[in-house]
Amino acid sequence: MSWNFQEIQETIEKEASQVANLKDLETFRIKYLGRKGLVQEIFASLSSLPHMERPLVGKSVNTLRSNITTIVEDKKKAIRDRCAGIAAPLEELDVTIPGVTMGVGHQHVLTQTIDAICSIFEGLGFVVQEGPEIETEFNNFTALNIPVDHPSRDSFDTFYIDSPDPQRKGRYQLMRSHTSPAQIRVMQNNAPPLAVVVPGRVYRPDSVDASHSFMFHQIEGLLVDVDIRFSDLKGLLTVFCQRFFGKKIKMRFRPHFFPFTEPSAEVDISCYICGGNGWVAPSSSVLSSMNTSLTGEPQGCSVCRRKGWLEIMGCGMVHPRVFTAAGYPKGKYVGLAFGLGVERIAMLKYGINDIRIFFENDVRFLEQF
Ligand code: PHE
Repeated sequence: MSWNFQEIQETIEKEASQVANLKDLETFRIKYLGRKGLVQEIFASLSSLPHMERPLVGKSVNTLRSNITTIVEDKKKAIRDRCAGIAAPLEELDVTIPGVTMGVGHQHVLTQTIDAICSIFEGLGFVVQEGPEIETEFNNFTALNIPVDHPSRDSFDTFYIDSPDPQRKGRYQLMRSHTSPAQIRVMQNNAPPLAVVVPGRVYRPDSVDASHSFMFHQIEGLLVDVDIRFSDLKGLLTVFCQRFFGKKIKMRFRPHFFPFTEPSAEVDISCYICGGNGWVAPSSSVLSSMNTSLTGEPQGCSVCRRKGWLEIMGCGMVHPRVFTAAGYPKGKYVGLAFGLGVERIAMLKYGINDIRIFFENDVRFLEQF
């Protein structure tokens, strides 16, 4: 086949002059430069030409290709320039393409839990306060009636740093191991009657596993006045549990020991995954897949480990030595205090079986709340 390059060039120029937008320009480009376009067709025909003609045709088709490429580039630039002045570059904006939605974030489930707990206490007259995560040894231990040789320091010892102030050398600071030191700060700065809740992070020398983390969140509660009784503590915490977990929840106070409260108790609630009986019927709970065998047989509740009760906080009446350490006059005030673990409560409320998942930033987990 012989090619009339002169004629081809003219046709191309004529066609190019009629191209008005980028879409037509692309059709034009494909027609001539595409894989099945004219230029390729001419290249393919070279092998069937007499040997003598091949170099000449080859040269002409190369010239043709570069001419078309130039035409396409020039045309593209001209169309773009023309559209640049227009508010919406019509040639490039296809309004029918579905938009890219920006993911809207929301509060972490722990923040939501802290807010929900604090707002219940705010409704009962408590004020939300904060304390620092780096605490003095005095506030974290000594003022809370935990002397240097007290065994409970072992499970509470975190990183210590000497005071950066040369005047205060030997006055150690550490990452607080509970929110209770905030009690001291609140009392040092306020006179009773007072009622505060203090949410925040705490640190422990614990190895990480499904139920332990070296960092977690607590909410401390402190109420000080002249005539507070243990029955007030029970009443207050019962109201809280019923508002947070629902009216059906049962509670029990187990005698316990904390150096900074006397008497002290741990509070358990009836396991509301299994209803307190220790067994989970097939598909009766959000945790059914975790708690029931594949055959659908009832399984022992893995959340309370068949005990029917779940420990949710420590509490008690403020120890007189704590008042003294905070600078209150002897024998004038009484108070109640409690401390609850936020992760623990969120795990119970939402049926989460591994504490680590709160801190892994896995969106598939986080977006469920
Ligand atoms: N600080 C205690 C703990 O971390 C909890 C607690 C707070 C107990 C207040 C009694 C009163 O285990």
